Amino acid sequence: MTLHTGRHFLQIPGPTNVPDQVLRAMAAPTIDHRGPEFASLTLRLLEALKPVFGTSGPVLIYPASGTGAWEAALVNTLSPGDRVLCFETGHFATLWQRMAGELGLDTELVPGDWRHGADPAQLAERLADDSAHRIKAVCVVHNETSTGVTSRIPEIRRVLDEADHPALLLVDTISSLGSIDYRHDEWGVDVTVAGSQKGLMLPPGLSFNAVSQKALTASRNAFLRRSFWDWRPVLEANQRGYFPYTPATNLLYGLDEALRMLAAEGLPAVFARHARHARATRAAVRGWGLEVLCADEREHSGSLTAVLMPSGHDADKVRKIVLERYDMSLGAGLGKLAGRVFRIGHLGHLGDLTLAGTLAGVQMGLERAGVPLAQGGLPATLDVLRGE
Ligand SMILES: Cc1ncc(COP(=O)(O)O)c(C=O)c1O
Repeated sequence: MTLHTGRHFLQIPGPTNVPDQVLRAMAAPTIDHRGPEFASLTLRLLEALKPVFGTSGPVLIYPASGTGAWEAALVNTLSPGDRVLCFETGHFATLWQRMAGELGLDTELVPGDWRHGADPAQLAERLADDSAHRIKAVCVVHNETSTGVTSRIPEIRRVLDEADHPALLLVDTISSLGSIDYRHDEWGVDVTVAGSQKGLMLPPGLSFNAVSQKALTASRNAFLRRSFWDWRPVLEANQRGYFPYTPATNLLYGLDEALRMLAAEGLPAVFARHARHARATRAAVRGWGLEVLCADEREHSGSLTAVLMPSGHDADKVRKIVLERYDMSLGAGLGKLAGRVFRIGHLGHLGDLTLAGTLAGVQMGLERAGVPLAQGGLPATLDVLRGE
């Protein structure tokens, strides 16, 4: 039976802990979404979102989970039969590729081992073979939530530029936006896909497309069928602060507050905090004598850490013990990693002591599950937290 004394620790890599001030903001009365007060809220939000994406271009808000924003990115920019190049970085990249196939796109998946990010060298090879420019879009998941690996988007952009290839670059930042440094304009991304329930510290239910001028131009000649996801009516209504449907009013109140919090801390400080918590978490994992799933030092995620179980030990047994004894939720291994890894979310609204408590809970869960541990885990975490 789960104990419920004190607060539940929601240490999955999203949805994340929603700050009290965001919860309070959402508890305000719902207003007329066609009235003047709502229009000024929307106009403020659409501006305040831009620095979070690192863009001066439009950002669209959908009342949908991240999956909806994936679909919006594809159907607004591509036509039936267009070739889309995806990288098998993990579970979510594979789901996005599957969606693209279901929508009638011709997808190519660059195979991966789920321990590395999208490989710029493999992209260079694929582009070199594509002198006819059949590839219309390259899809990359910036931070693979199933593996804790962050792809190097600037390097992906550089490869596209060096090949002088016109493909659109579509990037999923669902578990990186507001947690890991990200720059839509500077990195030449055409559509950035994001969601509310991770670095933005909101409940699930909103998702986003940040859109480049090149993507907007492409959308005029894109013929995949679309209605609800169509950027055009949204962009048009947004100019006056409205939406072509009933928006998620109270989630937008929460977004307003969450954006204020991110601005008050300052994005560079937000990214540094996440990177430091990620280092402190990796220090614990290594101090226990366990292995972090991410296999490239350049690609460790700032927002979550996936921990490989020693052979013969079941990650789900550890998660069950941690939930039942310590009232903490950890992320499960997804897809082919089921039972082999558990994931520690350290993103969103998180301080040093919450992280230290999280890692104490993980250690106690591992010990109770009979996983042999070295004793250096928590001291190594505290060294990172003390020292930096
Ligand atoms: C990287 C990534 N992409 C896409 C999704 C799908 O988003 P949603 O579950 O909000 O539809 C998730 C969900 O966790 C994710 O982590």
